[in-house]
Amino acid sequence: GFNMVTCSAPVNIAVIKYWGKRDEELILPINSSLSVTLHQDQLRTTTTVACSRSFEEDRIWLNGREEDITLPRLQSCLREVRRLARKRHSDGDPAGLSHKFHICSVNNFPTAAGLASSAAGYACLVYSLARVLGVEGELSVVARQGSGSACRSMYGGFVQWTMGQREDGKDSIAQQVAPETNWPELRVLVLVVSAERKLVGSTSGMQTSVETSSLLKHRAECVVPGRMEQMIRAVKKRDFATFAELTMKDSNQFHATCLDTYPPVFYLNDVSRRIINLVHRYNRHCGETRVAYSFDAGPNAVIFTLQEHTAEFFQVGGTFFPPETNGEQFLKGLPITGVTLSEELKEAIGMEPL
Ligand code: DP6
Repeated sequence: GFNMVTCSAPVNIAVIKYWGKRDEELILPINSSLSVTLHQDQLRTTTTVACSRSFEEDRIWLNGREEDITLPRLQSCLREVRRLARKRHSDGDPAGLSHKFHICSVNNFPTAAGLASSAAGYACLVYSLARVLGVEGELSVVARQGSGSACRSMYGGFVQWTMGQREDGKDSIAQQVAPETNWPELRVLVLVVSAERKLVGSTSGMQTSVETSSLLKHRAECVVPGRMEQMIRAVKKRDFATFAELTMKDSNQFHATCLDTYPPVFYLNDVSRRIINLVHRYNRHCGETRVAYSFDAGPNAVIFTLQEHTAEFFQVGGTFFPPETNGEQFLKGLPITGVTLSEELKEAIGMEPL
């Protein structure tokens, strides 16, 4: 017997950020979060899982290189999916028992560059494992144990990850708040400022923040609960100005928390700050909020806007893109004047209808 499936999962971008755990092993967060799952082709992980009794051991390859299968988070996902499979097939076929997996996963974007590669990666892994074993049901709790943000990539559209209260994490799940069709005019643009590996990964960065930042505690207890409610309302009503303002404020507070961490963690760079200024200048010039930015644990910007404003924003922002920018990587240095973005370049920087 030999079973094989191939699945692909997209990156998600948090507009209310997850930062900080109350349980490191189960990956339980100190606050709820909300994200937008991209549904374009540029930022995805594709995973093939083969499952056979003739394999001697579980093995995994990431972007063509064999990786250590004993990684605790990988082991959690394998163990949890097998547990679900045993439960489901307990009446007969012991599918979850004697097989081994060979897993092959590829990103079509830089790994660990603050582009949420672990989110797409673990979401895709858990989904593929579940498919190959014929397991259905609540898989976001399993993906969460691979990487917190991965639980949100199990759904499309606008997704909330409810922090939950239970110690076993059974209520710390992801749920769709609205499908992407609820807001077809929304556009998401990823500006890759640097494709290099980040200096401080999210896992250790948030650990230090939990230990040292009082701003983080304030944020989790007093700020995020209200913002979650406001954000869900804004998404449902397609209220872009509110959505955009909350998104920018939450990104800023997350990076303020990183500065409040001791020793401090810096994720934004000069280019990131110029993009922030550009967006605020553009919005002020328009007399309304037409564009928003968000930054994760790295310098790359994610821009949110509506279809009707993309052309104009590109005319303004286009002066910031170097002419030699190619299809591979996008925004490297600033500023270069007088460059208008070609259709080709727009495609290269990943502007896609959401
Ligand atoms: C800044 O999900 O990568 O992107 O749970 O330790 O794997 P672990 O961390 P991870 O953290 C993501 C942090 C963030 C914000 C977000 O996506 O909500």
